[in-house]
This record gives sequence, C-alpha cells and structure tokens, in this order.
Amino acid sequence: MRTPVIAGNWKLFKKQADAADLVTALIPLVKDAVGVEIVVAPVFTSLSAVREKIRGTNIKLSAQNCYWEEEGAFTGEIAPGMIKDAGCSHVIIGHSERRQYFGETNETVNKKIKAALKAGLVSLLCIGETLAQREAEKTFDILRSQVTDGLAGITAVELAAIIIAYEPVWAIGTGKTASDDQAQEAHAFIRGLVAELYDQATADAIRILYGGSVKPENVKGLMSRPDIDGALVGGASLKADSFAGIVNF
Ligand code: 13P
Repeated sequence: MRTPVIAGNWKLFKKQADAADLVTALIPLVKDAVGVEIVVAPVFTSLSAVREKIRGTNIKLSAQNCYWEEEGAFTGEIAPGMIKDAGCSHVIIGHSERRQYFGETNETVNKKIKAALKAGLVSLLCIGETLAQREAEKTFDILRSQVTDGLAGITAVELAAIIIAYEPVWAIGTGKTASDDQAQEAHAFIRGLVAELYDQATADAIRILYGGSVKPENVKGLMSRPDIDGALVGGASLKADSFAGIVNF
C-alpha cells in the first residue's frame, strides 16, 4: 500500500513573511488529512520561517535543490546535510527548470541523489519529456534514460528514500495537464522500468507523483489511476485553499 504524497513546489516565490503566512493558512485546512503525506518546498531563505510554523503539524519540509558535496570551496551551493540541519526531510532533485536553465544532467542528478541519501533526505527525483520529445515519440526513451542514469548505482534498499515525480515539461505552468490516460501510461512505464532495473516488490513500493498544472479540479481523476501516487504542485501550491483542495482530494 503506497501512501500518497502531495508536495508543493513554491519555486522562486515567497519571502519569509509571505511563506510563513501561506503555511499558517494551510495548516488548519489540511490538519485532518489522513493517509496522505504533505510536503512544502519553499526557497532556501524561507525554510526556517516555515519550519517554525509547521512544528508539530502534519506538514513536512523540502528544499528545491542541493549540491552533491557536504562542504568545501563551492561558493553559493548548499549541502544536503545543511538542508537536513535546516529542518528538511525532503529535497527536490532534477526539476526540469534546473535541467533547462541551470545545466543539470542525469549525471549531476545522480550525484545529488546519492549525496541526499547519505544525508538522510528523501529525494523527489523529477523526470519528464519536453513537447518536442513527445511529438518525436521519444517520451519513453527520455524517461528510460532519466530513470536509469538518475538512479545509477542506487540500491533497492536506498530506493525507499526516493520518490519519482513525472512532470511532462509541456504541462508545467501551461495549464495544459496531461490527460489521466497520458499520465497513467507514463507512470506505468516508469514503474515497469523500476521492476526491470530492480524487482517487482521495489517497483510496487515506489511512489510516483504526477506534476504539471495539477489543480483541485483535476487531481481526483489523476489520483484514481492505479500508478499515480500523488502530485508535485507548482502554481496551485502558492495559495492555501487551492493546495488544500488538492491535499483533501
Ligand atoms: P505547475 O503546477 O505550476 O504546472 O508546476 C508544476 C511543477 O513544476 C512542480 O514542480
């Protein structure tokens, strides 16, 4: 039985006071949600403000990125151990915006996941094809390399601390959600791939979230599909009522 995860990726929004206000408004709206893991991912500088507010609640804290070294002369980077120290249990790794704008590759994603594992963080590994790749019928090839290379050298036991988020790039911030069928097809493929790379029990246990224009109106349909175990939400996570509407699907 896989516990669903609803995670809010706040991206580059919300300074400390706004982040604290958002989570303060969210807490009472989701306090009765049972059988669902709730995660919010503010910017680094707002982590501590949110951490103070969520103490003793059912909301968990995530960072949006990390580096793969624990310390050293790497100006501007943040180590997984520091993220853990800041109160996070989760970290988003390999978001398509980082792949697109900041040169992340499957190789750097793999290093980051390994470093996050060492620090005791749960990784939200983001994968997904662009529109051009989908139109060229390369979706499954892209997903195969993102999963295979992203998880290279990671054991089945370690996979318990990894959540995969399938986010088709063409559905992010566009209002154009993948249909329930398109999402299910990709999720089933990813789960099959995990079975091929590891084993069936590992594949049955891993949570695979869908991301890309998830809203209270479309979450139910997505969640009714057998291989969709939750959502990674961008825009709709920036308002307490819409994020709560997704959590309480
Ligand atoms: P939107 O929900 O705004 O499409 O963003 C999805 C996403 O990128 C979450 O990581």
